[in-house]
Amino acid sequence: MALSFRFLFSSSLLLLSLLCASNKGGAHRYLKPKPNNVIDGRPNLNVYHKAKLCPPHDHPGTHKAYVPSHEEILRLDQDRVDSIHSKISNSNAIAKDSTTLPAKSGAILNSGNYFVTIGLGTPKKELSLIFDTGSFLAWTQCEPCSGSCYRQQEPIFDPSASTSYNNITCNSATCQSSSSATGTQPGCSDSTCTYATAYGDGSATAGFLGNDALTLTDTDIVSNFVFGCGENNTGLFHGTAGLLGLGRDPLSIVSQTAQEYNQVFSYCLPSTASLTGSLTFGSPLASQSFSYTPLSSNQQTTSFYGLDTKGITVNGTTVNIDPSVWSTAGTIIDSGTVITRLPPDAYSAMRDAFKQGMTQYPTAPPYGSFFDTCYDLSEYPNATLPVISLLFNGSVTVPVPVSGTLYQIQNNQSCLAFAPNGSPNDVAIYGNQQQLTIGVVYDVPGNQVGFANNVCQ
Ligand SMILES: *[C@@H]1O[C@H](CO)[C@@H](O)[C@H](O)[C@H]1NC(C)=O
Ligand SMILES: *[C@@H]1O[C@H](CO)[C@@H](O)[C@H](O)[C@H]1NC(C)=O
Ligand SMILES: *[C@@H]1O[C@H](CO)[C@@H](O)[C@H](O)[C@H]1NC(C)=O
Ligand SMILES: *[C@@H]1O[C@H](CO)[C@@H](O)[C@H](O)[C@H]1NC(C)=O
Ligand SMILES: *[C@@H]1O[C@H](CO)[C@@H](O)[C@H](O)[C@H]1NC(C)=O
Ligand SMILES: *[C@@H]1O[C@H](CO)[C@@H](O)[C@H](O)[C@H]1NC(C)=O
Repeated sequence: MALSFRFLFSSSLLLLSLLCASNKGGAHRYLKPKPNNVIDGRPNLNVYHKAKLCPPHDHPGTHKAYVPSHEEILRLDQDRVDSIHSKISNSNAIAKDSTTLPAKSGAILNSGNYFVTIGLGTPKKELSLIFDTGSFLAWTQCEPCSGSCYRQQEPIFDPSASTSYNNITCNSATCQSSSSATGTQPGCSDSTCTYATAYGDGSATAGFLGNDALTLTDTDIVSNFVFGCGENNTGLFHGTAGLLGLGRDPLSIVSQTAQEYNQVFSYCLPSTASLTGSLTFGSPLASQSFSYTPLSSNQQTTSFYGLDTKGITVNGTTVNIDPSVWSTAGTIIDSGTVITRLPPDAYSAMRDAFKQGMTQYPTAPPYGSFFDTCYDLSEYPNATLPVISLLFNGSVTVPVPVSGTLYQIQNNQSCLAFAPNGSPNDVAIYGNQQQLTIGVVYDVPGNQVGFANNVCQ
């Protein structure tokens, strides 16, 4: 088993020269996404990488899409991982000494990279929202932006222009239970429920809770969908209109559409920013063969999607890792974390096995303190990489695609795209680089997550 590196240069996250597609020739002021469609009765939303988002319509000057640097991507990724670790604390030693515990915020930093476009209100207005299995609330910026709004690609949603918008009242059960999704206790203003969510990087949204018609496709319209109507928003959302949380919380879209789609959804993340992936609600098509692993019964991970990792193979050989390494840490799968984080002992054993399969290629310097194993493959367009596979409970083997094996910093520096956690007690996170092109189905009532190879490009 070996992967050809030939495809890597075309499929890695080489965004630097990416022009916002629809601005070419200046014909359009912003990206017009392809319409979402219906496949065998299931709403199928197009998924784009954030780098595809064009500058906000009132953005002065540049015609280039906002393209974060590798340094920024990886720094925000570490901040996100830190916020997940502070929410899931496995260490009994620390838990006993509660004063040393970091503050547990309900909100996980949203460095999330992928967005979908939905319609909100009547008549419907299109909005591009980051989707994220580590987030719980759906929110969008709302007029009249009484605090402040950052610039976004589409016009800001105006609830007063929607005939189907309703405020959520303070005494409703929805309001009173909203803190698990927002991370803060709700407030009350003129009998309307207010919410506030602050993220680890200083980004924040606050406003009213409301409900309105959510249009996924022309025939899939969810009435009375509860979301945050943010009138005071700041942060690094880079032109998206807000967020769509897919986590395990009563307020997430997954729970709110339980009647329609039975808390089952799947996605496929595209290998480059110029390709389109998909986010589908409802059970997967019979024609797609998924291998299922049970959701973990580890209580710590229950607001996330927990998995039980059993091991790692490198080019078909099982890496020697004590099983207790996995059970001590636990594992979650997350669409918003970029780089997979492993327990320190699992990482070093896997890395050493990978290095043994790469001895014929010249090494490159490490990338800061983030990536310690890098290669200069600029002279080896056809290099073959050892295949890394993740093994999950239920004998499920998920091979990491070639696009997710190395992270290309520059032409002469491609780094093993995994990182160790700081502590053996920190939860392992199966991140989105290692999920590229793989179909991932989340089946809450079936208590399982499934994987299928090569579902998208
Ligand atoms: C908006 O939020 C910021 C903090 O994010 C706060 O300082 C400011 O007072 C808020 N403004 C209003 C009008 O609520
Ligand atoms: C929702 O509540 C806010 C604050 O009380 C108010 O300004 C707005 O007019 C209300 N909207 C509707 C449709 O009731
Ligand atoms: C991986 O295994 C295949 C055979 O399954 C072998 O041909 C290839 O050389 C191995 N690659 C490395 C890098 O060890
Ligand atoms: C890489 O493989 C392609 C297709 O097999 C071939 O055309 C090309 O010459 C190879 N390049 C090198 C440097 O070996
Ligand atoms: C693995 O899955 C089985 C159910 O299929 C479950 O009973 C067991 O607890 C799971 N856990 C671990 C750690 O493998
Ligand atoms: C790698 O490429 C960069 C930019 O092209 C260059 O500045 C650097 O010197 C190269 N490093 C090595 C080790 O060749």
